[in-house]
Amino acid sequence: MRKQIAAANWKMNLSQNEAETLLDQILATEHHLSGNQEAIFAVPAIYIPLAVQKLSGKNNVFVAAQNCHQKTSGAYTGEIAASMYASAGVHHIVLGHSERREYFAESDALLAEKTDAVLAIGSTPIFCCGEPLSIREAGTQNSFVEAQLKNSLFHLSADQIVKVVIAYEPIWAIGTGKTATSDQAQEIHAYIRSVFATKYGASIADQISILYGGSVKASNAKEIFSQPDVDGGLVGGASLIATEFAAIINALK
Ligand code: 13P
Repeated sequence: MRKQIAAANWKMNLSQNEAETLLDQILATEHHLSGNQEAIFAVPAIYIPLAVQKLSGKNNVFVAAQNCHQKTSGAYTGEIAASMYASAGVHHIVLGHSERREYFAESDALLAEKTDAVLAIGSTPIFCCGEPLSIREAGTQNSFVEAQLKNSLFHLSADQIVKVVIAYEPIWAIGTGKTATSDQAQEIHAYIRSVFATKYGASIADQISILYGGSVKASNAKEIFSQPDVDGGLVGGASLIATEFAAIINALK
C-alpha cells in the first residue's frame, strides 16, 4: 500500500517564535496518522533544528528541507548539501518547486542532479512538477508534465524511482485560491502514474505516492485526497494555520 502524505510547505514564512508556536499548536490539535500515513513539515532551513527537536519521537512525522544543492560539499557559499540536512535529522527534500524553477531558474537537468544527490545519501526527494496556466488553457498539461518527469527522473532505476515522492502542483492553483477540481486532479495523477507504468511497469508505478498541491485546505482536502491516484497533498498557505493543517492530515485516506 503506497504512502498517503500530508506535507506542509511553509515556504519563506514565519519568525522563529511563530514557527515554534505553530508546531506547538499542531501538536496540540487532534490529528491521527495510521501506518501508511505521514505528515511532513518542509520548514525554512534555519528552523530545522527547532522542528527536528519539537517533532522527535512522533510516529510518521518528518521534517523536510525545501531545497538542497546538487553537490556534496565545496565552495558554494550560502548553499546546503543533502548530506548536511541528513546529518541534522532531515531525510526528505522538496525539489523543483515551481517557485524555484521560476525564480531561481532551476532546469530539468539541474533537478536530475539534485534528485541524484538526494537519493545517493538515502534520503527522499519530494519532486514537484506542474504546468502554468497557459499550458492548461492550451490543454497540453499532460505532455508538459510528462516532459518534466522524463527529463529529470527517467534516468533512475526502478529501485530508485519508488523512493521518489511526486508532487503535482499546477502553477495556476498555487496561492491563488483556485484549486483543480478533484476530477482534474485525478485525471492528471492517473496520467502521471501511467507515464511511470510505461517506463517502469505497473507494479512500480503503483508504489509511487503522487501528492496534489495548489490551494489545498481543510474544506477541500477530503474530496481531493479521496481520488484513487491522489495520495495526499503538498500544502502552502493552509499549512501555516494549525487547525487547517491538522484537518488536512485527518483527511488522508
Ligand atoms: P498553496 O497551498 O498556498 O496554494 O501552495 C501550494 C504549494 O506551492 C505547496 O508547495
